[in-house]
Amino acid sequence: MKKIIAVLPGDGIGPEVTTQAVRVLQKIAEKFNHQFEFKEGLIGACAIDKTGDPLPDETLKLCNSVDAILFGAIGDPKYDNDPKAKVRPEQGLLKLRKSLGLFANIRPVMVFDSLKNKSPLKNEILDYVDFVVFRELTGGIYFGEHSRPTKSSARDVCEYTKEEIERIAVLAFDAAKSRKSVGHKGKVTVVDKANVLETSRLWRETIQELSKKYPNIEVEFMYVDNASMQIIRNPKNFDVMLTENMFGDILTDEASVIAGSLGVLPSASVGSGVSLFEPIHGSYPEAAGKNIANPIGAILSAAMLLGVAFKLEEESQAVYMAVKKTLDEGFGTEDINSTNPLKTGELTDKILENI
Ligand code: IPM
Ligand code: MN
Repeated sequence: MKKIIAVLPGDGIGPEVTTQAVRVLQKIAEKFNHQFEFKEGLIGACAIDKTGDPLPDETLKLCNSVDAILFGAIGDPKYDNDPKAKVRPEQGLLKLRKSLGLFANIRPVMVFDSLKNKSPLKNEILDYVDFVVFRELTGGIYFGEHSRPTKSSARDVCEYTKEEIERIAVLAFDAAKSRKSVGHKGKVTVVDKANVLETSRLWRETIQELSKKYPNIEVEFMYVDNASMQIIRNPKNFDVMLTENMFGDILTDEASVIAGSLGVLPSASVGSGVSLFEPIHGSYPEAAGKNIANPIGAILSAAMLLGVAFKLEEESQAVYMAVKKTLDEGFGTEDINSTNPLKTGELTDKILENI
């Protein structure tokens, strides 16, 4: 198979971890006889530094011309403490999501047996946890009007349409159906705040209607405050979680505690065109340039890229199994192995050996 992949390393540890994910993809290409071509683009704070724009037109053009996008991270502390900054690195990612129509962000939450002791949660809570979050990604409060009506007041508008809800709900219900066929519960948990928010009531209404088309899928509605508790109290209750943009952002960081490290979780963003794959960890500026970042989130994002974008299931599984084996062998970067930590590239070497 011949494919072109855009690589957007971005900020912080983004360049270090995407380099490792590319090494893994190259190894897969070699082993399974594919040809992957990589084309780099600028995004985020580094793009602002070089061009003044967090998403240069050239990058957007590149993304529209490839078969998949591998993304690193975005964000720089120099903007975090400057509420008056006019351009921010995050605008680049938000604009990219919107321009590419990436309305669904898929974040699997899995537990590697060998990382169970890294989680602050008790082992018995972590047994049999395996769920996936479908986070709406191009609507809600992230994309509503943001304004300062007066010097001392501010507004962020949260808005959803039925169509926006329906299209991601269909993906979540389809996922529940196919997961059910391989032994999962076949349940969609819709997380909202329908006791307070009108948008949440529209989510419920839309999903109640849609769920009639999926008679074998159980639907559960849960308020977000309760969900934030259930995620760490009884995470094995979940199968497919479906939620709006900001709730999904917050809950998936929380869910990463289950995995033992934010550094190991991948994500896929899909929509009407090219899909994008990124680790959920963000730019982690304190670690940038030190070669200590965990590459597994990026490497598993590459595994999702192979499976979701290229339908290369066997190749995708080969990456996942190699990561699992490497972790079982006790190897890890300092976030998961503080006694004998490997550097970012060294951990990847072990994973490459296991592919
Ligand atoms: C994420 C990130 C982004 C988000 C930021 C960088 C804008 O936290 O992908 O989860 O909030 O969506
Ligand atoms: Mn986030």
